[in-house]
Amino acid sequence: MPSPAIIVDQVNFSYHNTSVLENVSLSIYEGDFVAVFGPNGGGKTTLLQLIMGLLEPTQGNISLWGKTPGKNRPHIGYVPQIARFDKQFPITAEEVVQMGCLSKLSFWGTLKAQEKQTALEALEKVGMTDFRHRSFGQLSGGQAQRVLIARALASHPKLLILDEPTASVDPKAEEEILQILTSLQGSLTILMVTHDLQTIIKKVEKLLCVHRHAHMFSPSEVCEHFGLGLYHSPLIKTQFCVK
Ligand SMILES: Nc1ncnc2c1ncn2[C@@H]1O[C@H](COP(=O)(O)OP(=O)(O)OP(=O)(O)O)[C@@H](O)[C@H]1O
Ligand SMILES: [Mg+2]
Repeated sequence: MPSPAIIVDQVNFSYHNTSVLENVSLSIYEGDFVAVFGPNGGGKTTLLQLIMGLLEPTQGNISLWGKTPGKNRPHIGYVPQIARFDKQFPITAEEVVQMGCLSKLSFWGTLKAQEKQTALEALEKVGMTDFRHRSFGQLSGGQAQRVLIARALASHPKLLILDEPTASVDPKAEEEILQILTSLQGSLTILMVTHDLQTIIKKVEKLLCVHRHAHMFSPSEVCEHFGLGLYHSPLIKTQFCVK
C-alpha cells in the first residue's frame, strides 16, 4: 500500500477551552475520495480547517505529503460551506474562476494567457463553459456551486476539499456535482462533507464520520442509523444496529 497523503495523528482541538475534537487519528491516501459526514456541530468543518492549516491542533500532528498543512496551501483547492459571495457584485462566472489563479498574477497585476486558459479548462470540467460570461449573481444555486468548484480546480490542487457543496441544491444539481467529482476521482484526493449519506454511499469507497471522534468506514460498515441522522457512540455498528 502507498504511504498516506494525509496523516492526522492523535489530534485534539478546542475553541476557547471547549473541546471539539478528541484523539482523532486517520490516514487518507493519494487519490482517495472520502465522504465526511456526522451530526451538526460534530467537528467536520473544524477538522477540514485543521487539515488546511487554517487552525492549529491543540495537541497532536497533521501532515500532508510529509509536510505541515501550511506548506501545502498552494496544493489545496477549497469550496467552503455556504459560499459568502455577494450576489450583487458585478462579476462573471469566468472571473470567479480566474480568482482561483490569483497567486499567478503578473507583475502588473494581470492574469497571463495561460492562467486564463486554465480557468476556461476548469469551467469546461464542470460543464459551465456556456455560462462563462453570465453574471455570477444570476446563476442558480447548482450552477454557482459548479463555478466555485471550477475556481477551486483552477489552481490544479492535489487535494480538493468541499464543505457541503450539495447542501442547498436540488437532487438533479446534486447528481451533476457528484458526477463532476466522480470524473475527477483518482486524479486528486477529494474530501467532501455531506449530510446526504444515502446518495454518497453509492459513490465513494471511504466514509469518515466526525462526531467529536472520527472513524473511517467502508460503505458496507456504515450503520443504517447514521443515514437517518441518528448518530451514536461508539461510531461503529453495535449489536443493536441491525443492517
Ligand atoms: N470559531 C468558533 N469559535 C467557537 N466555537 C466554534 C467555532 N466554530 C465552530 N465552533 C463550534 O465547534 C463545534 C464544531 O463546529 P463545526 O463547524 O466544526 O461542526 P460541523 O460538523 O461542521 O457542523 P455542521 O454540520 O453544522 O456544519 C460546534 O459546537 C461549533 O459551535
Ligand atoms: Mg460544517
